[in-house]
Amino acid sequence: MADFELIVLGCSTWGDGALQDDFVEFYNAMSKEYFEGKKTAVFGPGDSESYPDFFCEAVVMIEKKLRECNAEVVAESLKIDGDIEPALGEAQSWGLGIAKAF
Ligand SMILES: Cc1cc2nc3c(=O)[nH]c(=O)nc-3n(C[C@H](O)[C@H](O)[C@H](O)COP(=O)(O)O)c2cc1C
Repeated sequence: MADFELIVLGCSTWGDGALQDDFVEFYNAMSKEYFEGKKTAVFGPGDSESYPDFFCEAVVMIEKKLRECNAEVVAESLKIDGDIEPALGEAQSWGLGIAKAF
């Protein structure tokens, strides 16, 4: 993390509001040591129809953790609902917006 000033994290949500398995180790290791003062943003896909109470909960969890680590969250988190193919344009605009602001 030390080499980067802007860190964009992406994670889908599984179970009932759980992180995807391969993100758990990284999540547990997130600390001020790595994220204090860093510019960050979070995105992830989910499904609001099937999981209305846990929609994109992984995104919510990661954003919360970043704030606890005193990172700066520079953009509203991108939550992609359902099929990701139609949302690719939105995701690209979101990423470009962050890159331009940076
Ligand atoms: C078993 C299972 C549990 C899921 N749990 C959630 C959830 O809690 N919240 C949510 O927003 N989406 C949930 N999803 C939706 C996935 O996040 C979504 O299918 C995935 O991000 C999109 O990737 P895919 O196109 O490979 O399915 C779940 C999907 C499955 C199959």
